[in-house]
Amino acid sequence: MRYILANWKMHFTTMQAVTMLNRLDDKIDYHKNVLLVLFPPFTSIDRVKDHILSQKNPKKFNLGVQNIYFEDEGAFTGEISAPMAKELADYVIIGHSERRIYFNENDQLIAKKMQSAIRNDLTPVLCIGENATQHTASHAKRVVLAQLTNGLANLTADEVKDIIIAYEPVWAIGTGKFAEPDELAHMIKDIRSCIYDLYGEKAKQVKLLYGGSVEADNASSYLKIKGCDGLLVGSASLNYHKFAKIVECATNLDL
Ligand code: PGA
Repeated sequence: MRYILANWKMHFTTMQAVTMLNRLDDKIDYHKNVLLVLFPPFTSIDRVKDHILSQKNPKKFNLGVQNIYFEDEGAFTGEISAPMAKELADYVIIGHSERRIYFNENDQLIAKKMQSAIRNDLTPVLCIGENATQHTASHAKRVVLAQLTNGLANLTADEVKDIIIAYEPVWAIGTGKFAEPDELAHMIKDIRSCIYDLYGEKAKQVKLLYGGSVEADNASSYLKIKGCDGLLVGSASLNYHKFAKIVECATNLDL
């Protein structure tokens, strides 16, 4: 199974989101080995979900939210909890670099969000990745494995086995610079052996994705890497031609 995730970030009004979904529905065929998850802004999820349910194949698109708070309820103005998100979606992005950078999210907060997601039956997509300075200083592995270990703190092997991890080097996000497949293959190996050391055999089931300036012309080179289960797509997911082409790369792997 290949996972192709579309992170729409803070883009699209409800009308635009529904239009996008309909265009994607026209362009993309359901494929049993490709799991598509759309992450619209909170405001449009309800309507997008209605439209998914009314489509010919409601299994073609799955839904996720871009963030949750770690408490289930309470006086936390402006926040959305995992039980609220679960009413509409099955996946949640946790620890995206934009949340780490612009909203000061640290590993401890991220670990609590991971627990909250799992407690409420949402599949978390834990994002990890080094920034440009760390990359240039050859600290990528150390940084990434620390984010991974801290983000998974307090989870059991049974909980970890069902999560998704997205390796997204910060210097590659929205920049047009992307990781070389060779470089990525090394990082994937390092991440996989780290979770294996921590959680043993069950951790082999963890899904591991790449994200960072994914486009139709580089998607296949990542999808072919051993241990890479899919892609988390940002900018290119805002254009239905481009996103459909990326999905096609995943579908074609099977042919
Ligand atoms: P990008 O974003 O594809 O625009 O680089 C990826 C992400 O932020 O998940």
